[in-house]
Amino acid sequence: MASRFAVLRPTFYALTLVAGLTAGAVYAQQEPRLDVIYVPTPQQVVDRMLQLADVKQGDYMIDFGCGDGRMVVTAAKRGARGYGVDINPQRIKEANENAKAAGVTDKVEFKIANLFEEDLSKADVMAMYLLTDINLRLRPKILDTMKPGSRIVSHAFDMGDWKPEVHENVDGRNVYFWIVPAKVNGTWQFDGPNKMKVTLDQKYQFFTGKAEMDGKSVDITDGKLTGADISFTINGQTYTGKVDGNTISGANWKATKA
Ligand SMILES: C[S@@+](CC[C@H](N)C(=O)[O-])C[C@H]1O[C@@H](n2cnc3c(N)ncnc32)[C@H](O)[C@@H]1O
Repeated sequence: MASRFAVLRPTFYALTLVAGLTAGAVYAQQEPRLDVIYVPTPQQVVDRMLQLADVKQGDYMIDFGCGDGRMVVTAAKRGARGYGVDINPQRIKEANENAKAAGVTDKVEFKIANLFEEDLSKADVMAMYLLTDINLRLRPKILDTMKPGSRIVSHAFDMGDWKPEVHENVDGRNVYFWIVPAKVNGTWQFDGPNKMKVTLDQKYQFFTGKAEMDGKSVDITDGKLTGADISFTINGQTYTGKVDGNTISGANWKATKA
């Protein structure tokens, strides 16, 4: 019995291998399931998007759903490093060819991958040409994992009630620009010329709040975050500072998260 199994085993393995290879070949020929179809961004729109996001040497730019890689290749020509992913192998082949033709292969990387499984946290700039519902699915990850001050540019599609810093029309195309705000929601203890307890209610880059000083509660107005830069007004006095995690520092004041 044992010897019969030993004879059959290689045949079984061979059949399994053939079946596996055949399935693989069929799978490889299958079109990948796209969440959004391929439509390239016109080059003059790419140029304006990267100009709006101020892409420059030292930046790391990502384009998820990178198509033929034009955003990433253009960013590399501006001196940045770039990373593009696309679920369609044909697009990644084209992106690598375009990087080679532009002489920027040392600055870029392209990968066949599903954009929803990729990490955003290392990017200084993110470019998108997807769809509003995909932008909205990515929005929590953008706000929660990208560094304050990271810049986002999108062709054609917005991010719902997250108001862009810039919305403009470029050759008939809508282009949007956002800056990831620091997180300041909650209660802070201010020390400096005015000692006060401040409670902030943040919505994206805007916030309102109340300051308790000398037993009185005063409204906070004009609350705005531009990345880690914060500004707001209390009793007609404007405060500006920088947020760094659980600390906000101004010229002559400091606030700590309570
Ligand atoms: C509208 S095109 C944008 C191409 C390029 N970013 C541009 O602006 O020229 C969208 C791209 O997303 C890719 N895509 C669709 N679903 C994807 C997914 N789940 N993960 C990664 N890429 C995807 C498509 O293959 C297509 O190349």
